[in-house]
Amino acid sequence: MKIQQRINYQQYPNKFSFGSCARFYTTTNGDEFGTNSWLFRDDIEWKRLAKYEKNHFCNINRVNIIQFASSDGSEAYTQIISLLENYPNKNSDKFFPIKAYDIDEEIVNAARSGLINTSLVDRMSLQINSEDYSKYFTETNKILNIKEDITLQNKKTLKATNLLKNRVHFERADMYNILAELNDNSDTILLCRNILGYFEDNKVEKFVKIVSNKLKQGSMFIIGQHDTSNTFIDRYLLENKFMKIFEHVYQKL
Ligand SMILES: C[S@@+](CC[C@H](N)C(=O)[O-])C[C@H]1O[C@@H](n2cnc3c(N)ncnc32)[C@H](O)[C@@H]1O
Repeated sequence: MKIQQRINYQQYPNKFSFGSCARFYTTTNGDEFGTNSWLFRDDIEWKRLAKYEKNHFCNINRVNIIQFASSDGSEAYTQIISLLENYPNKNSDKFFPIKAYDIDEEIVNAARSGLINTSLVDRMSLQINSEDYSKYFTETNKILNIKEDITLQNKKTLKATNLLKNRVHFERADMYNILAELNDNSDTILLCRNILGYFEDNKVEKFVKIVSNKLKQGSMFIIGQHDTSNTFIDRYLLENKFMKIFEHVYQKL
């Protein structure tokens, strides 16, 4: 699947309220996507998730965190900070590096730069969710330009420190290809958030079936509010051997 053309964002004035980064495009399949993402997106209880991940995988030496639709990196940074803040000893190393994939080359290059454009909400979330956020981000005069990003106004660019950068690899890839190659050993946390909500329901159901075949008992699958609001994904997951742990967080039975 290739990105075909950029969409005129002015057609979509009400599609989201805020985000570190946001623009829209269509693929050759005719699917339309937004790239919007932001730190500590509040459709997940991040602290609760980190604690669950820690306890659930306590007897596993290496946990494979895979993130589809990783956008500008906000979500990977959120997951890393949550684990480090709530699981401060060395044992959290077993979760890293996160493998983060997005199909959009420009957004992957932005993520690789370590720069993110932050709103006031991003920076407040950082303060609330970490003891000292200068460990994770430094202020910079560099400007991160993402073509057609409609939220750039009044944004402050922050640079991720090595504490974050060394814990995630960003790569351009289609999530279908990565999923096809996945060999799970009951040690996977698969985040696929706020992307399936853009798909038609039959595609979502097929995707859930593939994920269900790939993930073994105990592995986790994590989605987002955009997915549950726009599709029957919750039902498909429950019909395909997943149990719900808490909102948007599922575990393979
Ligand atoms: C709305 S963003 C979601 C970002 C983040 N997961 C979050 O929840 O904040 C959707 C992202 O999915 C990416 N995407 C769309 N189709 C994809 C595919 N087939 N494989 C990987 N990424 C894809 C888009 O480029 C975009 O950056």
